[in-house]
Amino acid sequence: MDYTRLGTSGLKVSRIALGCMSFGDPGKRMPWVLDDHEADPIFRQAVDLGITFWDTANIYGLGTSEEIVGRALKKYVQRDDVVLATKLFQPMHQGPGGSGLSRKAVMEQIDASLKRLDTDYIDLYQIHRFDPETPVEETMEALHDVVKAGKARYIGASSMWAWQFATMQHTAQAGGWTRFVSMQDQYSLIHREEEREMFGLLAAQGVGSIPWSPLAAGWVARPWGESSTRRSQNYPVTDPKGRPLFLDSDQAIVDTVQRIAEARGVPMAQVAMAWVLKNPVVSAPIVGATKPHHLADAAAALDLQLTDEETHSLEEPYVPRMPTWF
Ligand SMILES: NC(=O)c1ccc[n+]([C@@H]2O[C@H](COP(=O)([O-])OP(=O)(O)OC[C@H]3O[C@@H](n4cnc5c(N)ncnc54)[C@H](OP(=O)(O)O)[C@@H]3O)[C@@H](O)[C@H]2O)c1
Repeated sequence: MDYTRLGTSGLKVSRIALGCMSFGDPGKRMPWVLDDHEADPIFRQAVDLGITFWDTANIYGLGTSEEIVGRALKKYVQRDDVVLATKLFQPMHQGPGGSGLSRKAVMEQIDASLKRLDTDYIDLYQIHRFDPETPVEETMEALHDVVKAGKARYIGASSMWAWQFATMQHTAQAGGWTRFVSMQDQYSLIHREEEREMFGLLAAQGVGSIPWSPLAAGWVARPWGESSTRRSQNYPVTDPKGRPLFLDSDQAIVDTVQRIAEARGVPMAQVAMAWVLKNPVVSAPIVGATKPHHLADAAAALDLQLTDEETHSLEEPYVPRMPTWF
């Protein structure tokens, strides 16, 4: 495994992060996720491969992902050897502290996550989206207080417009409060809108990108149209706002991934992940693993150097689109 600083912060993370949205109670929210028992070999493999950066969220499995991660932390590693990331924003219950980024929500949700994870601190506490219903000053001061209380070491953000992120960073600086060190963007060969505004901002501010769905939830890791897995059979075609998650033109990209993978004799996932890792703003893509070989493929991508010609042929068919999921 390779390790890097998260942006220009002092926090060292593995260059592949373990996405823990794949774990939880299959009876809650997402039926394809792995339960405690099924997730065990994946945690063991993460530890064997040196993948020490683990990402979850309060909303995954309505808290059950955090519970599984908490148990794995005790079973397989020393707590201090892992960089543990979780998130808040999405509705955990209908009450005023159940969702959003108000001071009340921040204080309630950090304590609830700490309890489920059964740990004293979160390494990276992330806002899962921008909250248009809370003043930015209120959120940034509350997050700062969480850091000063020792409940979180660093803060990060996820999926919003670049102007919203810039406003939050500026507000933190003006208030003398903690700034974000990371941004979780949706970024893969078929979701590249972050290249337009966000990545330039992150580079300028020394913020590390930790892309989510770097394999487009698996779509760029298997031949176009193949949907043989539990997850792919249930995958939506639009986000909740009705924006399409895939365009017909994406087939040319996926076909190119397949052609390069076959020519090199490696799995498609390695080619697609190597392309994400190539971007200098990317500190660590967060891979979602549902089978043991998934993490091994992600780690192997660190050694795959795409040529300029391969990179061009992967990028050339991309058609701009509205970003999705925020
Ligand atoms: N901040 C946010 O809003 C947000 C949103 C989504 C996710 N996340 C984070 O990002 C993490 C990753 O998200 P994701 O699961 O969508 O990421 P992903 O890595 O793009 O997709 C994972 C899926 O790709 C397939 N896959 C993975 N490795 C493969 C391989 N080597 N060969 C073939 N197929 C492979 C599997 O699909 P099958 O299971 O179908 O085989 C797996 O479930 C999550 O766990 C979570 O931590 C954050």
